Amino acid sequence: MIGEKKVLFSGMQATGNLTLGNYLGALKNWVSLSDEYECFYSVVDMHSITVRQNPAELRKRARALLILYIAAGLDPEKNCIYYQSHVSGHAELAWILNCFTYMGELNRMTQFKDKSAKHADNINAGLFTYPVLMASDILLYQADVVPVGIDQMQHLELTRDLAQRFNHIYGNVFTVPEAYIGKVGAKIMSLQDPAKKMSKSDENPNASIFLMDEPDVIMRKCKRAVTDSEAQILYREEQPGVKNLIDIYSACTGKQPEEVVKEFDGRGYGEFKLAVGEAVVSVLKPLQDEAARLNKDKAYIDSIIKKNAEKADYYAMKTLRKVQKKVGFPERIR
Ligand code: TRP
Repeated sequence: MIGEKKVLFSGMQATGNLTLGNYLGALKNWVSLSDEYECFYSVVDMHSITVRQNPAELRKRARALLILYIAAGLDPEKNCIYYQSHVSGHAELAWILNCFTYMGELNRMTQFKDKSAKHADNINAGLFTYPVLMASDILLYQADVVPVGIDQMQHLELTRDLAQRFNHIYGNVFTVPEAYIGKVGAKIMSLQDPAKKMSKSDENPNASIFLMDEPDVIMRKCKRAVTDSEAQILYREEQPGVKNLIDIYSACTGKQPEEVVKEFDGRGYGEFKLAVGEAVVSVLKPLQDEAARLNKDKAYIDSIIKKNAEKADYYAMKTLRKVQKKVGFPERIR
């Protein structure tokens, strides 16, 4: 708890371009949480270097992501938006927690298995202990809730195990976090294969709408979206392509799927796809404009970065000092 509020922590990597799916499924819904929770949203650049990065590119993307958080409506006065690498407590707690994590636990992580298969030439120790750094992110702020996708649930489970293990030995040090299951955002699927989730890393350029896509690119991708030969706009599992377009339209306009079905009753797929494209543009264009505006305001963004890093550091250090004392590190002399 910070004051009266429960603590929420989440992080995103600045690798790959965020998609409409990331926005409608996560970011957009985060905006309403700051009244209820004390929120920390980290740009987790330390996680990013577990795979080789171009330094200039990483720096640029990290800043773009931080700006995007703000452009999406997360008020940086209320939400602590910061770079993980600016708060040294993450690395320090990760070291300590490494000493409480078993090789066997990390060996079981499916993301480690996937990533080491993908980057066989660079299976580094950081990739292996990635989940421990993630646990440190969460436990450092005594987070009560963590909004994560299903692919990160295994890491969150490990975080809970580590917190409980540590608490069992040393008394109540860490809050044991829960997955945040609130109003879940729309689950947006690939435009080319509606059986797959829309992903940053899809090889098919028409499968995903990126947040920074130009309006004409968005329109083109929507027009090319895979549908079916049913020639009717109904919201049902048998028509996954059409269903996905309805979900997108619905998330962009705030209309319920049933209303959308009524609205397009008797109309063709061509017309519907055009409307979907326009609805997406009407959501993304203001976001892009705001990001561009903020990007020019270097002094403002820098002040946010500084202030929020200090705020994050304050809470991180509170936890870290307690942990260091518990494990037996000597007290600092002031
Ligand atoms: N591993 C997460 C991902 O790739 C990102 C992340 C890092 C994270 N630290 C976190 C998410 C802490 C939630 C909480 O999506």
